[in-house]
Amino acid sequence: MQVIKNPKQLQDTMLELKKQGKKIGFVPTMGYLHEGHISLIKCAKKENDIVVVSIFVNPLQFGKNEDLGKYPRDFERDKSICEKEGVDYLFYPDYKDMYPESFQTYVEVVELSKGLCGDYRPGHFKGVATVVLKLFNIVCPDNAYFGKKDYQQLKVIQRMVKDLNVPVNVVGCPIVREPDGLAMSSRNTYLSNEERQSATYIYKGLLEGKRLFQSGERDSEKIRQAVIDTIKKAPLLKEIQYVEVVDKDSLKPKKVAESGDVIAVAVYIGNTRLIDNMEL
Ligand code: PAF
Repeated sequence: MQVIKNPKQLQDTMLELKKQGKKIGFVPTMGYLHEGHISLIKCAKKENDIVVVSIFVNPLQFGKNEDLGKYPRDFERDKSICEKEGVDYLFYPDYKDMYPESFQTYVEVVELSKGLCGDYRPGHFKGVATVVLKLFNIVCPDNAYFGKKDYQQLKVIQRMVKDLNVPVNVVGCPIVREPDGLAMSSRNTYLSNEERQSATYIYKGLLEGKRLFQSGERDSEKIRQAVIDTIKKAPLLKEIQYVEVVDKDSLKPKKVAESGDVIAVAVYIGNTRLIDNMEL
């Protein structure tokens, strides 16, 4: 596996591989890799000739009072995971090379960035869309893999690619969960043992919402309330930011739930913000 830090060097390497007819699969990450990332890498390995993983904690997508400073990082550990998984290129750029001094161009996916996390993290999806388009331009992938845990992010990126004619196939991959149902996330490392226990109520809440839907309930408000009531049982719950039943494409809240809609949740367990979702 080759580690490349310089964007131009990686881009030149990729363009050469493409000339040779190689199919490139790309897994963008912020590092501190877990089973969720590994499942994306495995998927990319299956469907492409060359696999590229990027590790870049993108300051642009963090708000002023968010966890940029304490975001978990362990490059050596991530590197050995990538090596073990058979990644071909690990892109690990420095901030100054991604955002040179006079950087001033941004991408905004206007409607899909509103609601859900967009209401609580202003500017977040603008930061995500901007860095992902940059990464796509540097890596030139045929296929790019994103987890469905960040469901709104996936929709924003799919829309961006369509709207801006970016020649990348964006693949959404299933959420990977711990045995007790907690969705894998680098941020789970912030949780104390007791908080970790409390966090299991998120999945229990989603399951309760889905159970209600499967038993015939179509009133979104009732489904929402069932999810909220279950999550409220979490001993160390600090705040429920949102629980919404939304359309899977527009992400607009639904009054009447339908098969394919998504229940999306964001909560604080202690000081850790966790998101999760479930398709109905
Ligand atoms: O999901 C993530 O890890 C990040 O938002 C991404 C897509 C790598 C962009 O920084």
